[in-house]
Amino acid sequence: NRVLVLAGGLSPEHEVSVRSGRRVAEALRRLDVEVQTCDVGPELLNLLTDDPPQVVFPVLHGTSGEDGAIREVLELAGVPYVGARPDACRAAYAKPIAKTLVAEQGIAVPRGLALPKSLFHDLGAHAVLERIVAMLGLPLFVKPAQGGSAFGATAVTEASALPAALVSCFAYSDTALIEQQVTGVEVAVGVLDLGDGPVALPAVEIVPDGGVYDYAARYTAGRTEFFSPARLSDEVARAAADAAVTAHRALGLRDVSRTDLIIDETGRVYFLEVNVSPGMTDTSTLPLAVEAAGMDFAVVCRELAHRALL
Ligand code: DAL
Ligand code: MG
Repeated sequence: NRVLVLAGGLSPEHEVSVRSGRRVAEALRRLDVEVQTCDVGPELLNLLTDDPPQVVFPVLHGTSGEDGAIREVLELAGVPYVGARPDACRAAYAKPIAKTLVAEQGIAVPRGLALPKSLFHDLGAHAVLERIVAMLGLPLFVKPAQGGSAFGATAVTEASALPAALVSCFAYSDTALIEQQVTGVEVAVGVLDLGDGPVALPAVEIVPDGGVYDYAARYTAGRTEFFSPARLSDEVARAAADAAVTAHRALGLRDVSRTDLIIDETGRVYFLEVNVSPGMTDTSTLPLAVEAAGMDFAVVCRELAHRALL
């Protein structure tokens, strides 16, 4: 019953994925599951062809891990794996597409638009940026259309800061998502499907010490305070759970996902993005949510691996 935990990967989130993978592997080993770990590379191809594991647990974040590419390889190899299928990953990982599909289901999303890098390099870009600021107002949030862990993401409070924010963003993605920044309570809602359909875990509230949930705040222990479950009214908690399950379904995801939301002062829930391979590190929210639901993280990992075999 060998489970191959795939971690590391080819994205800037390599290190995060290594930490996530270690946590999942340790959890499975605690339950005496035979675990092998592997990174993306030639060794993986050899393994899949010469000595395939019974099931693969991809714990890869970002490009190649969440965009469907590696899962396409797993499909070709005919090895069962945990999580969403390649096409669903592609749609979820392209944030402007995910936003549109989720908004279609009646979930609020921040107003915004996708700006291609080529347009930014156009001589007329300045005028376009002015119009964007005039249309969306300030503050804005700029992030890579494809990416994770806040790489290349910047809050823009003055129009003059927008070009620099876009330059940082384009280092990670050829398209930038420029959105109105919704201020409010930031929560992450994990969704698990262990056989009875997708079910939301308790929302986890994220309060970074400097107010910004950037890379350091995400992955340095103690830099962010988590409230698990989040301090929400029953009604808002239900709306957040509904938004996460709706996103999971709208994008055709499988097994596990985590939807990131902002709740404004009126209690309106805004969808920001959904992650098909949520962080599993010691400072990530999904494991906290699993515990808040009264479940054992290791047992959940084993269940997910088991379900991939069905
Ligand atoms: N992209 C990181 C791993 C997350 O969303 O948890
Ligand atoms: Mg993310």
